[in-house]
Amino acid sequence: MSMFDDIERVLFTEEQIQARIRELAEELNAQYTDADLPLLVCILKGAVVFLSDLVRHLNFRHEMDFMVVSSYSSGTCSSGVVRILLDLETNIEGRHVLIVEDIIDTGHTLNYILHNLETRHPASVRIMTLLNKPSRREIDIPVDFSGFEIPDEFVLGFGLDYAEQYRNLPFIGVLKPEVYLRTEA
Ligand code: IMP
Ligand code: MG
Repeated sequence: MSMFDDIERVLFTEEQIQARIRELAEELNAQYTDADLPLLVCILKGAVVFLSDLVRHLNFRHEMDFMVVSSYSSGTCSSGVVRILLDLETNIEGRHVLIVEDIIDTGHTLNYILHNLETRHPASVRIMTLLNKPSRREIDIPVDFSGFEIPDEFVLGFGLDYAEQYRNLPFIGVLKPEVYLRTEA
């Protein structure tokens, strides 16, 4: 059975996502100059698809770096305990940093990353997320650029996974309930 058969509903089509990414890129093009030379910090793995499409519309000089963080989770709930599994290669002291994330849910992951990066004395830190679930927020996060606000539903595709799969889907959707039952059984 194809992974496409596991999708119950498409929330955002490939065309909608690409159109929104172009708009977000224009917002960045208006905010940053070559002289800023911002560092785009991609939070792996989820944000890698978003980042790679986003940067191809940017017209200012910038650099990229990557971080892997893990939250100890109990089931589908984020526990708030975050560890850095892969840190930046770049020294961000005095640099303009833009964090690029796939989704902000409770806010625990971003809150940890934000405070951690701030201890390194960057010139600025801003946050861009493709998806935002404000109704789930447990810690306030200053989101500077947000692609889509979504309700409290578990979504996947376009970088977002369920059990490490479905990241390659070009759209964002929700799974059929029987997929969870199948994999949790
Ligand atoms: P937070 O710490 O609760 O904000 O969780 C952020 C992380 O949880 C994201 O980076 C995702 O990896 C994961 N996550 C939260 N909601 C979803 C979802 O609907 N689909 C896939 N992953 C999600
Ligand atoms: Mg993530």
